[in-house]
Amino acid sequence: MKILSCTSISIIVALILTSCGTEETATPDQATPTGKSMVATEKLFIQAAEQLVGQYSSALKSELMVALDNYGAVEAIKVCSRQAQVLAASHSAEGWQIKRVSRKWRNILDRPDTVEVAMLEMFDNPATKDEYLTCWSGPDTARVFHYYKKIVVKNICLQCHGDLQTFDLDLYKRIKIAYPYDKATGYQAGNLRGMYVVSVEYPAGEDMAKLLADGVNIVEFTQPDTTAGDTIAGDSVTGDTSP
Ligand code: HEC
Repeated sequence: MKILSCTSISIIVALILTSCGTEETATPDQATPTGKSMVATEKLFIQAAEQLVGQYSSALKSELMVALDNYGAVEAIKVCSRQAQVLAASHSAEGWQIKRVSRKWRNILDRPDTVEVAMLEMFDNPATKDEYLTCWSGPDTARVFHYYKKIVVKNICLQCHGDLQTFDLDLYKRIKIAYPYDKATGYQAGNLRGMYVVSVEYPAGEDMAKLLADGVNIVEFTQPDTTAGDTIAGDSVTGDTSP
């Protein structure tokens, strides 16, 4: 198994991008963990990260479906946004983090950093067949493993991420109020929408990795509740909330 440092990946991608006129700065490469035990650790982390992404995406999907069925898209945006950020914030105590990022983000908290942009470029490259990418960052004493899984647009996503011209007017207004800088529209089914980013501290994240690899579900799905406040990303959604 290849063990890659995040920096070396961003340097490679930066070289490709530079030829297209984009400048990326890369920091000096960090030593990469090597040796048998790290290979085993990486295997465990990949397996566990896959589990976590699976749990997280099915929680978000159920949340979205229940909200869409019960309240419609206008109310569903409130539920989704709150839930996504709550889930994303919930595992840092165990040395794990999960989030979604996109170059065309709706929530500014989902903006990618330099390495993440490089990974998104890789996923966008037709030569990349991988569903996920991995790398290590940090100094010897504080290694972090990163797992990136691509997110592709499906038809159901289009009502909130598709062509603005096809949007329900009320929904469009709501999105603009909650996310004035929204970039996450204009997608078509099959496009790369973004990716999940899982980061695992080594060795702090090992215990949770074992639980996840054993199939323990750590993502709790709570029934959507549209009455529990209107705050999205620090912005207040105001106006008529009745259907
Ligand atoms: C009911 C409207 C709605 C639908 C349908 C919807 N989304 Fe979203 N999506 C949102 C909102 C609102 C956010 C901002 C969430 C937040 O504030 O964290 C968002 C954020 C995201 C993000 C995080 C990156 C960003 O732009 O901030 C991704 C990735 C994403 N959606 C993918 C999808 C995919 C894939 C689908 C289809 C399976 C989908 N969405 C369907 C409303 C929707």
